[in-house]
Formats: sequence, structure tokens, C-alpha cells
Amino acid sequence: MNKTLIVNRELCTQLLSIEECIPAMRDTLIAAAQGEIKMLQRQMIPHQSGNMLALMPASLLTKNVTGSKVIIFPGPKARQEGTNQGVVPLFDTETGALLAIVDAELITVVRTAATSAAATDVLARKDAASVAILGAGNQGKAHAEAMGYIRDIKTVYVWDQFPAAIEAAVAHLKAKMPGVEIIPCDSPEVAVKDADIVCTVTSCKGDNPFLKGEWLKEGAHVNAVGACSGAAREIETSVVQRCKIYYDWEEATMRDAGDLIIPLNKGEVKMEDFMGEVGKVMLNQLEGRVNEQEITLFETIGISVEDIAAAYQIYEKAKEQNLGVWLEI
Ligand SMILES: NC(=O)c1ccc[n+]([C@@H]2O[C@H](COP(=O)([O-])OP(=O)(O)OC[C@H]3O[C@@H](n4cnc5c(N)ncnc54)[C@H](O)[C@@H]3O)[C@@H](O)[C@H]2O)c1
Repeated sequence: MNKTLIVNRELCTQLLSIEECIPAMRDTLIAAAQGEIKMLQRQMIPHQSGNMLALMPASLLTKNVTGSKVIIFPGPKARQEGTNQGVVPLFDTETGALLAIVDAELITVVRTAATSAAATDVLARKDAASVAILGAGNQGKAHAEAMGYIRDIKTVYVWDQFPAAIEAAVAHLKAKMPGVEIIPCDSPEVAVKDADIVCTVTSCKGDNPFLKGEWLKEGAHVNAVGACSGAAREIETSVVQRCKIYYDWEEATMRDAGDLIIPLNKGEVKMEDFMGEVGKVMLNQLEGRVNEQEITLFETIGISVEDIAAAYQIYEKAKEQNLGVWLEI
């Protein structure tokens, strides 16, 4: 019987870096745009505790691997153990062998920030030098760091609803990004008004958008990341109306991206107003930024093929370095 490589959270930290994940996510967005993936929409089972079991299956045909992220979107108690407890089982599509079981916590944080960075790299101005982080949690910190790998970032503005979260993120980023000015902000407007790149990464659940279109600087790029259900919004309609809009995968976006679905349903924007999948920009099949003034936006709810690609990257590195534990399951 084939053995399976087990990669725990600690080893993932050693093997998966945001910087190395950015090109892998770029390839994955391209594979998605070229139809070299198979993917089902995310399925969820809610529980009274506030925990939701989420299943996110996908196949990455370019690497002959298939699998599913299986995680808990946490309620208050589960949150103490992390925001993405779970695993990614990875199978060989040809032999059916269970190649690996990889911890999902770090994969989720890293692949999301790396995906935003890959999209930002193709959409933001080349001279973008400042980032606003709205939502100073795990994704907020990872996004600030990720933007530093694709642009020469000199300033990071940090805002959150909780001052303690701002303080913790500022301390974290000062250590992670030496030489970069990290500025705590007491409102989202202050954070974004001078920012070349804006990342909305809050854990907001309802339709309470906090980002206004008129606050955005000319030529800015926005990554809208935190609102991951059709009923949740971080950005007002005025943002959607002011930006040139791209997304990761149209099918999932039109089911789960409240940022776009809510204004669409209200008749405030039309489907034809949206540009399309960012992978097509990477393939030069779709127009990206054409001048220094327009404002671009990448709407991402996160797609499972990103998890499969990140798990595969970890699996390959672990094998190369002879790390992890092989088990007969
Ligand atoms: N798009 C994707 O691919 C993807 C992937 C993973 C997570 N997410 C989403 O990203 C979000 C953040 O995840 P995380 O792991 O960083 O969570 P986290 O709990 O570590 O941090 C979230 C932060 O957002 C702040 N916040 C919540 N609501 C707010 C509001 N209305 N205004 C201002 N601040 C607010 C909280 O205080 C907290 O500091 C979650 O909603 C999660 O579902 C998206």
C-alpha cells in the first residue's frame, strides 16, 4: 500500500513562504482562466456553536493532483485554535494514491495573501509604494507582507475596529518589515486616503460596508478579500462603481461575493461593468490597467484550487528535503 506524507502546522511554517507561494498562485489563476482545473463550489455545514464545516474540492490538472480543503470556519470557541483549523488531503489523479495530508491553517493564510499579491502585481501601478490594511488580523498581517514582495513598499497604514488588534499588527509588521514605516490609523478613511494599494481583510459577516469610493486615491488598487458570502460586504457600491473590477473565478464570485452581488441585485451596477477573471489579464487575453489614473479592484473569495496548489508545493518541498512523516493510512 502507498504511504502518505503527513505535514503538520509547524512543518508547513518551515516549508511554505508567502514569497515562494506568489508565483504558484499566479500559475494557479492562469490555470483557472485556461480551464486547466476542475472545481466544485464551497459547501458548508453550520453548527449552533458558530462553527461551520467547509469543504472545498478541486483538481489541478497541470500537476495531476486532486483533493479538498476540509476546515472549520470558527465560532468563538474554535477561534482560540486558529481561524482555519483543518487539513488538505492530496491525491494523485492517475493512481488515486493519497499522496499527503497537509495542515490547512497556514495554507489558507499564505495562499490568500499570495493570490492577492499575484493579482496586485498585474493590476497595480508599478510605482505603488504604500499599502492600507483594513482588518488587522492574520490576513491583514500576511497581506502587508505579501505586498512587500511585489512592490517597493515604504509605508503601511493599519486600521481595525479594535485598537488592540491595530497595536498587535503594528508591532508584528515592524518586526517583519524592517525599514518600512508602519502607521496605526483611527479610521478607514485616514488609512486609505494616501494608499496606493488597499486590502480589505476584515472578518465582517454582514452588509455593513466601511470603505467608500470617494476616499480612494487616483491610480490605487484594491484587494477585496474579507467578505466571503453573498450577504456580506466590506466595500460600498461607490467603490464598485469607481473601480475596474476583476475576480479569481466567476462562478464562485457570482455566488459568494456580496461586495459585487448586493449592488448587482439592487441594480446599481451591471455584469457588463465587470472586466473578468484576473488570470486572463495574466495571459494577455483581457485588458488590465491602461493608465496611471484608473482604480483597479481584485475581488477574491478564495478558490479551492489555490489550496490544492499550495498543498502540492508543500508536498514537493517536504519530499525534496526528506521532511514530514510517512504513514500507511
Ligand atoms: N478571500 C479569501 O480567499 C479568504 C481566505 C481566507 C480568509 N478570508 C476572510 O478574511 C477575513 C479575515 O480573516 P483572518 O483570518 O484575518 O481573521 P482574523 O480574525 O484573524 O482577523 C479579522 C480582523 O477583522 C477585524 N474586523 C472584523 N469586522 C470588522 C469591521 N466591520 N471593521 C473593522 N474591522 C473588523 C477584527 O477585529 C479582526 O482583527 C475573514 O472574513 C475570512 O473569511 C478570505
